[in-house]
Amino acid sequence: MSSGLESRARIGILISGRGSNMVALADAVSTGRIPNAQIAVVISDQVNAAGLAKAKTRGIETVVVERRGRSREDHDREIVAALKARRVDLVCLAGYMRVLSDEFLDAFRGRILNIHPSLLPSFPGLDAQKQALEHGVKWTGCTVHFVDETLDGGPIIAQRVVPVRDDDTVETLSERILVEEHQLYPEAVGIVLDQLRDSIIEDCSLQS
Ligand code: GRF
Repeated sequence: MSSGLESRARIGILISGRGSNMVALADAVSTGRIPNAQIAVVISDQVNAAGLAKAKTRGIETVVVERRGRSREDHDREIVAALKARRVDLVCLAGYMRVLSDEFLDAFRGRILNIHPSLLPSFPGLDAQKQALEHGVKWTGCTVHFVDETLDGGPIIAQRVVPVRDDDTVETLSERILVEEHQLYPEAVGIVLDQLRDSIIEDCSLQS
């Protein structure tokens, strides 16, 4: 998209750990469930993130940008540079455990997505599944939303609902939510890429 409407949208994925949502996105791209797109790069802030090997196995370029005591701003500047160097159109946070700086948000305004394991606005922040169990809700789920300055508070793109069972533990509930996450994230990315393409077409027709 960055180099014209004909080219495929370039997705950059940020991870910190397991990377199962990254795999779901990569597989959805390669099977055409997310059409006209490619995973341009997977970036991790953790050198030992298990997701790095999974990306490499799929032939995806990986980059590690360690925090190494650097300020959030310096760290983010390096990540933004890596994303820009690969002409990334859309950034997907997939288990990326760091809040983004304003500079990062400005560099990709409206083009950063996150997946969260609850029905936002309920249970933002860490341990969303544990929060849901402790609160005693009967239904929870997962949410893909745009990332802004708020904690898990940006505009919602799509959600899936998961029932909470009486005998659920954090592990069993997280597992069932994760199954839905892997369906939801590709669906949400498809929706956003369609919107981005439509806005590019609109911009072009306004200019002509
Ligand atoms: C997922 O539950 C996601 O919703 C949350 O962090 C977890 C990441 O899992 N943001 P994975 O690394 O994608 O397997």
